[in-house]
Amino acid sequence: MTDFIRLDKALSNMGAASRKEVKEAVRKGKILVNNIPATSSDMKITATDELVINGIPLKYKKYEYYMLNKPAGVISATTDLKEPTVTDLISSGRKDLFPVGRLDKDTVGLLVITNDGALAHELLSPVKHIKKTYFVRVKGRISEETYNIFSAGIRIGSEQFQPAELVILKNEEVSEAEITIYEGKYHQIKRMFEAVGNRVIYLKRLSMGNLRLDESLPEGKYRELSEEELLQLKDRK
Ligand code: URA
Repeated sequence: MTDFIRLDKALSNMGAASRKEVKEAVRKGKILVNNIPATSSDMKITATDELVINGIPLKYKKYEYYMLNKPAGVISATTDLKEPTVTDLISSGRKDLFPVGRLDKDTVGLLVITNDGALAHELLSPVKHIKKTYFVRVKGRISEETYNIFSAGIRIGSEQFQPAELVILKNEEVSEAEITIYEGKYHQIKRMFEAVGNRVIYLKRLSMGNLRLDESLPEGKYRELSEEELLQLKDRK
């Protein structure tokens, strides 16, 4: 099915021009759709139409998908009065971008930023059990029982956490592990380790579904997902 969208809505969603600016540019004949001057700002366009605005070619994209290597100190929200947010780091100009889920302010690593609400809903739905793998550094040694406790599913107070997979990489005064969880409860990994006597001192998300963080992406940087990565994100087997 072809998706149609109003010219002014498409351009303002993409951050290319406000609706008022589109109206003005159309009046001056400065917007071309397939090489023909647009006649009204509410005309319908599709992703295959060639647009030129003030001499600059542009392709309408309904959805955009970015991989961000989230740095520490930035909150997983779209706007905040005091703190920098993850969408402030994306300079695509789009106004409708949001992060798919949340990482704590001090957590780093993979965060998908998009405007595709349906995909985000699928990925975050608790019944879909999308797997998420993290690298974690904790204070102290990780006891042998922790593996069994996590794989059985730990109960903390009145809250039951689903089974998680733990791979211990280093077991010393400061220990390191990879942990895979299938849900996304508030401070989940920090609380799980706290419950077995280890305080998390560093947390980095490595993957979500089958999508892995591109380790060549420095913290704070982002790039568009490739077609293949988008398929990996959508493929939840
Ligand atoms: N678990 C946490 O404790 N924090 C995160 O940011 C993600 C998972």
